[in-house]
Amino acid sequence: MNILVTGGAGFIGSNFVRYFLEKYPAYSIINLDKLTYAGNLENLSDLQGEPRHRFVCGDIGDSDLVTQLSEECDAIIHFAAETHVDRSIVDPEAFIQTNVLGTHVLLEASRKHAHRLFLHISTDEVYGSCPEGDFTEDDRLNPSSPYSASKAGSDLLVASYHKTYGLPAIITRCSNNYGPFQFPEKLIPLMISNALENKPLPIYGDGLNIRDWLYVLDHCEAIDRVFHQGTAGEIYNIGAEGGKTNLDIVKFVLNTLEKPTSLIQYVKDRPAHDRRYAVNPKKIKDELGWQPQYSIETALEETIQWYCHHPDWWKRIKSGAYRHMYEKIYGASL
Ligand code: NAD
Ligand code: DAU
Repeated sequence: MNILVTGGAGFIGSNFVRYFLEKYPAYSIINLDKLTYAGNLENLSDLQGEPRHRFVCGDIGDSDLVTQLSEECDAIIHFAAETHVDRSIVDPEAFIQTNVLGTHVLLEASRKHAHRLFLHISTDEVYGSCPEGDFTEDDRLNPSSPYSASKAGSDLLVASYHKTYGLPAIITRCSNNYGPFQFPEKLIPLMISNALENKPLPIYGDGLNIRDWLYVLDHCEAIDRVFHQGTAGEIYNIGAEGGKTNLDIVKFVLNTLEKPTSLIQYVKDRPAHDRRYAVNPKKIKDELGWQPQYSIETALEETIQWYCHHPDWWKRIKSGAYRHMYEKIYGASL
């Protein structure tokens, strides 16, 4: 089987491409990625010379390119997106362009080429903040940021292509991921790398916002199950059912690295900052037999070690992209 993976040079996409090629020797992947600030070919350097992996640098919004690549493929797994909430607040346009319009281009190509599956990788953020309990797949969409609104828009488009055209499409909605190769603008890699450099760790608001952290390889396994056993037209929540406050996470990082809590610096809160995310993953557990394999304590410790052992990777990145954006939002430098 030949699969078109979009966004495979980003954090989750690159972990997934590696996982899938290793697990399924009969599969080939065409990896379409625009290499935005978040895309990085270094994330795939160990796949150099792998004949089953073909990298194509291009935009999912380029319909001629997408149509041509789609002809060669049996299915699409769609990761490509603008993904950082803070960036969507500063400049939403690219989010609408890629997440909504880009997804539409892929849907059209998938319909034309009668792919066996269009797997859309979405997020728990589309449900908005969850004051108590957890969200099931039937709960209403209530996004707070331009990022989550653009993802919600793409989810609705995907669902409409299933209903209207019978496109065999599935949507997954996962909680916060962490692991190797995550761009150091996101909470965990930012805090690890800042702590390693003895720089302040900026905590938004009171630090008591809650996120449900899932190790990236658990997410990859969930996508694998949905790809092979999921039912077209369905939505599957993916989560670890273990909320932690941002302060819990930051203190764990500081403790592991034996750094002082005085590095913590409270800064202005994110506008429309969702207080808590929580999804109910009962459906994927009961119907597809998925269970997370990694505990946060073990996998977060391993993740911290990965960043300790790959300073060149994150230092190259932090020297440019992130600092500029942080200064634009907070008017202060890190
Ligand atoms: P990322 O920002 O690390 O990577 C995104 C990738 O998409 C990059 O390689 C980038 O170059 C590529 N890309 C962006 N615009 C493109 C375009 N127009 N054409 C082609 N490629 C383009 O993102 P991530 O954290 O790996 O997230 C991947 C997917 O998973 C996203 O759809 C995101 O919404 C979803 N998701 C992420 C998380 C998380 O915690 N990171 C959780 C749930 C869902
Ligand atoms: O829930 C899934 C989503 O998780 C994905 O869809 C998004 O693509 C991904 O970016 C992530 O969104 P969050 O906004 O939850 O992740 P982020 O790492 O930006 O922030 C996590 C929490 O930490 C959030 O409450 C904001 C806070 N935070 C973040 C940063 C970057 C800080 O306190 N300080 C920071 O510097």
